[in-house]
Amino acid sequence: MRLFTGIQPSGDLHIGNYFGSIKPMIDSQGDNEIFAFIANYHAMTSVNDGEKLANLTMQSAMDFLALGLDPQKTTFWVQSDVKEVLELYWILSSFTSMGLLERGHSYKDKTSRGIGANHSLFSYPVLMAADILLFNSQIVPVGKDQIQHVEMARDIAIKFNNQYGNILTIPEYRVDEDVKTVPGIDGQKMSKSYGNTINIFGEEKKQTKTIKKIVTENVSMEEPKEWADCNVYNITKLFLDDSAQSELQKRYEKGGEGHGHFKLYTAEVIWDYYAPYREKRAYLEANQNEVREILTLGANKARASAQEVIEKVRSATGISY
Ligand code: ADP
Ligand code: TRP
Repeated sequence: MRLFTGIQPSGDLHIGNYFGSIKPMIDSQGDNEIFAFIANYHAMTSVNDGEKLANLTMQSAMDFLALGLDPQKTTFWVQSDVKEVLELYWILSSFTSMGLLERGHSYKDKTSRGIGANHSLFSYPVLMAADILLFNSQIVPVGKDQIQHVEMARDIAIKFNNQYGNILTIPEYRVDEDVKTVPGIDGQKMSKSYGNTINIFGEEKKQTKTIKKIVTENVSMEEPKEWADCNVYNITKLFLDDSAQSELQKRYEKGGEGHGHFKLYTAEVIWDYYAPYREKRAYLEANQNEVREILTLGANKARASAQEVIEKVRSATGISY
């Protein structure tokens, strides 16, 4: 089965991203054929600083490689390295009604908040459809917020196929119901936009300071404590195996330790968990030529696959003459 995913190069990754999307993808490498790309054209809807976008693109590539994305198993590239996607984007535009795009959540969201939407935000779903359809993607694993975009890709592909025959593969989205929402330091969903994140590759001191801010109940040191609803526990358990989890539960139940103690333990557990990834990250940072080579090889593989679809599309539409 071919799984397909786009990654917005949006800066510091947090542990919600890690357990919610990165780790499940990385763990499924080998069982599935994965196509993953860094969506730098998409990022232009929010980043208009050239140096910043170039930098975010490289940072994202290094983050994913450091966290275990294996370029031998996964086809990994930067969106703009396979320019055929822009050609398909234009061709698909003729099969996308204004009404479909006007119903787009992110476009409606921005305009209802009075933010002037430009054409790239409006047509974002068409570019995303081109991403998906250019690679014969069957399954697109997404968070709930992206379901509508995959549905739009289906609608557009069906319209195209009705006109030209069965050329495009109709994709399906997959929402992983097993993936739990990771709480932030305030107990709400962890999200960049809420400023409640614990980052994966932060500095140690800053990391510990953030973890100390996790909101907890106010109980005295001596008293036994509830672990099931404790934000500190619920964050820490993500990094622990069953026996370490039950040990921590016992420490809560016993009393005699305050949340401050547990937080220091959390900081240590998280720091240790990411130690090997940090090491790999530092290596890549110092050897960016290797990263560029990996991305070039990835783009070559992706382009070879894209070629099959785009040739058929050009021929059916009469663009090849
Ligand atoms: P953010 O909310 O920080 O902007 P994104 O929307 O960029 O994060 O999310 C990128 C990916 O990480 C998505 O697949 C999303 O489902 C996943 N993700 C983000 N936050 C969490 C969370 N708190 N728990 C689980 N998964 C998350
Ligand atoms: N829109 C996705 C997001 O914001 C990123 C993305 C772009 C994507 N193209 C894609 C995801 C194709 C899956 C398939 O997270």
